[in-house]
Amino acid sequence: MKIFIDTANLEEIKEANSLGLVDGVTTNPSLIAKEGKGFREIIDEICAIVNGPVSVEAVSTGSAALVKEAREITRIHPNIVVKIPLTWDGLKATKQLSGEGIKVNMTLVFSPNQALLAAKAGAFYVSPFVGRLDDCSHDGMELVEQILTIYDNYEFATEVIVASIRNPLHVLDAALMGADIATMPFSVMKQLVKHPLTDVGIERFLADWKKVPKK
Ligand code: E4P
Repeated sequence: MKIFIDTANLEEIKEANSLGLVDGVTTNPSLIAKEGKGFREIIDEICAIVNGPVSVEAVSTGSAALVKEAREITRIHPNIVVKIPLTWDGLKATKQLSGEGIKVNMTLVFSPNQALLAAKAGAFYVSPFVGRLDDCSHDGMELVEQILTIYDNYEFATEVIVASIRNPLHVLDAALMGADIATMPFSVMKQLVKHPLTDVGIERFLADWKKVPKK
């Protein structure tokens, strides 16, 4: 499973990337707004740090405007993938852009039928938002399972990005289900490393090592 980092924070991206953990980056308008810097400055810097796909969201409404904005966004750097919301206009724009060879990540996906349509429109990635579904008492990972089944049934090439990840169990389930990618906040990436028995084990080894004559 590929791991993407879901942030626009440059320090987090640099740190995770230095461990070889970052296969790609996903951003959205809210993540970029949190950084208090210019859009272009942030995207340029992310593309300079990471050697992999960087998802950047188009914010226009209407298919023609989405296509125009997507073309502009992808001119910034060859690694940029355009995020387009799963709406009627979004699908129309995705069909046009995929025909031009522009990679689209269809975002804000909350149902298996939406994911089916994303694949038919030629989306390169589809992003089911599991945490936001869990937040309103729906099983987000069940959606991922359904999408993987549909894509497998019909051999769609669209890759599934498990998005809106909130905890390590989402990551584990994504890997067990065979999702292509999990995009996660830096905080969840750090949680994946932690195990209390690892910490206790280190403490014990260090304490015992003190008892060993060093000669
Ligand atoms: C994915 O591409 C989105 O940026 C992200 O996962 C949304 O997560 P949230 O629901 O925690 O905002």
